[in-house]
Amino acid sequence: MRLTLGDFARSAEARLDPAIWDFFEGGAGEERTLAANAQAFDRWWLRPSVLRGADRPETAVKILGRAWDLPVGIAPVAFHTLAHPLGEIATARGTAALGSVPLVVSTFAGRRIEEVAAQRGDVPLWLQVYCLRDRSITRSLIERAENAGFEALVLTVDAPHLGRRLRDLRNDFRLPADVGPANLAGDGFRVPAAHARAEFDPGLDWSVVDWLRSVSALPVLVKGILTGADAALAIGAGVDGIVVSNHGGRQLDGVPGTLDVLPEIADAVAGRVPLLLDGGVRRGRDVLAALALGADAVLVGRPVLHGLAVGGAEGVTDLLTILLDELTDAMSLCGLRTLADITPDLVRPVTSWPA
Ligand code: FNR
Repeated sequence: MRLTLGDFARSAEARLDPAIWDFFEGGAGEERTLAANAQAFDRWWLRPSVLRGADRPETAVKILGRAWDLPVGIAPVAFHTLAHPLGEIATARGTAALGSVPLVVSTFAGRRIEEVAAQRGDVPLWLQVYCLRDRSITRSLIERAENAGFEALVLTVDAPHLGRRLRDLRNDFRLPADVGPANLAGDGFRVPAAHARAEFDPGLDWSVVDWLRSVSALPVLVKGILTGADAALAIGAGVDGIVVSNHGGRQLDGVPGTLDVLPEIADAVAGRVPLLLDGGVRRGRDVLAALALGADAVLVGRPVLHGLAVGGAEGVTDLLTILLDELTDAMSLCGLRTLADITPDLVRPVTSWPA
């Protein structure tokens, strides 16, 4: 019986080729940052308030003017087709079955964005952008996304090149012949392996936000911010939102867990733009901790691959339903009727308890 996201992970591991499992689960270097993402959530206790009449909590939230049914979206993850042949098409279907749960589609999606858009139902679709050395490729992808009804761009800023993922290097991991970047194929783009080092533009600076503005009217979020100082620069550059992320521990090993840096960034942002977080979110109560520490919503990455591997679209729906059930359970037990009831007082660090 699968009752938790951990249960889904174990089922997925049993089904997947070990090298693909390693590609999904692995982080950079010694994977200290990967571990830190999950551990950070275990350093906070929740402080419930009782007798608040909160038996049916309302999980909806509004981000960039759009209603989300729960404060959880799907992080951009390359090649969903490694987990299930329908890839991002199944993800969109499985997500849409739940309602309005945003899906951030990777530049390295395994399915064409137009096919994904056809399945979206009420799901807000965002395009994750890697600004490639040849900007005409990036630009044409953005234009296609706009035409297909995508609602925002998420520029990943923590990847001047791909991190050193030792599991993939040891496995000499290569994409299977039937998996590839479906949206870049035919645009002169080639991925000889999963490592597209040569095609990334390592020379990007903050002016890239202006460039995105010049090619698209969509809101621009930046993903991969880990300090208050960079959050302030991002706002100065005119971004519409920030995603606190260390790329699931896959880029620079040695940076803190995202929840650890969230308060510093929330201070710097001061509510001026939506603030999202990803990395290690695996339980409904993790979502509450992130919101109490300043996030407006979170994204989940690997769990969606697990849902796909276990049961395609249905697996994604089942997995998200567990997260939603856990969230409403935790909200109800904390005495939270709405997410707006969440204050910093909802959490207390484990180390300072009892005071
Ligand atoms: C990612 N991530 C990622 N991020 C991004 O901006 N573009 C991408 O193409 C990918 N691809 C990708 C592939 C795989 C297999 C993983 C596991 C992750 C990072 C992703 O968006 C997110 O930051 C993390 O996955 C969040 O951490 P959790 O939820 O996986 O712990």
